[in-house]
Amino acid sequence: MTVANTDQEGKLRTSSQAAQDFGDDPLAVRETSHYQMEYVESFVDKWDALIDWDRRAKAEGEFFIEKLRDLGAKKVLDVATGTGFHSVMLLKAGFEVTSVDGNEEMLAKAFSNARDHGHMLRTIHADWRWLNRHVHDLYDAVICLGNSFTHLHKDNDRRKALAEFYATLRAEGTLVLDQRNYDALLDHDVEPTHNYYYCGQDVRAFPEHIDESLARFCYEFNDGAQFHLNMFPLRKAYVQRLMKEVGFQRVSTYGDFQETFREKEPDFFIHVAEKAYRDLEDDNA
Ligand SMILES: C[S@@+](CC[C@H](N)C(=O)[O-])C[C@H]1O[C@@H](n2cnc3c(N)ncnc32)[C@H](O)[C@@H]1O
Repeated sequence: MTVANTDQEGKLRTSSQAAQDFGDDPLAVRETSHYQMEYVESFVDKWDALIDWDRRAKAEGEFFIEKLRDLGAKKVLDVATGTGFHSVMLLKAGFEVTSVDGNEEMLAKAFSNARDHGHMLRTIHADWRWLNRHVHDLYDAVICLGNSFTHLHKDNDRRKALAEFYATLRAEGTLVLDQRNYDALLDHDVEPTHNYYYCGQDVRAFPEHIDESLARFCYEFNDGAQFHLNMFPLRKAYVQRLMKEVGFQRVSTYGDFQETFREKEPDFFIHVAEKAYRDLEDDNA
């Protein structure tokens, strides 16, 4: 099996790895490129049991499809394709979709999942930090879903990735990006649940460790297989601020697919960041 990795110049290099490797001190692993070592083939193979397409489709309903239609989007760039769930849902709904991921295993799985659903996926293998070296087109919408942005461990990487997403949007385009409600976890306000994205019945997903710069999650499957992800716990207000700072004019945030939400309850937040210029005197949002 091949694991692709990116060096500082963004060139993809490869190494062989069969199992996840967090070294001797897993809590010290706070490195953006490490997602490549985490999404190994054995975990990618289990990802669909974790997210359970049917249950997820029921939980999400038409939220993203309706949001994108309301925004007038036709051409969508899915930058965190994973195994292809949203790319396939959007293709089925008639959108023109291009599917990006930095991890080759994920893209290969997405391609075969899409084929099983009767669609040919248009894929691009690219790390977000160097997205525009590989994506040479403009889109009505960029989607970054399934708590993916959390894989960026450095502030600079998050700014760079957002700037790359911004650059690939047309002037009136929109970024739709979701995140787990880490505020509730960091502030110890809720017991973590996994209602929406991680809704497979054969898996238990729980945080093993949380501090201000690391959320380490464990995924335990019924057959005894265990995997981990080391992620950066994004505070909601911080993500909203970053989006504004890279140039998005208006950011609306939804909680668990609802327009109004009580701050501490949602599992997930969904940010809808619009690029279209707004006169700030009209809008203090
Ligand atoms: C949590 S998975 C979510 C996948 C899918 N959106 C879903 O909801 O099932 C995160 C995905 O983001 C990709 N990813 C993480 N960091 C990345 C980066 N810096 N550049 C490109 N892809 C990245 C991973 O390879 C993985 O497929």
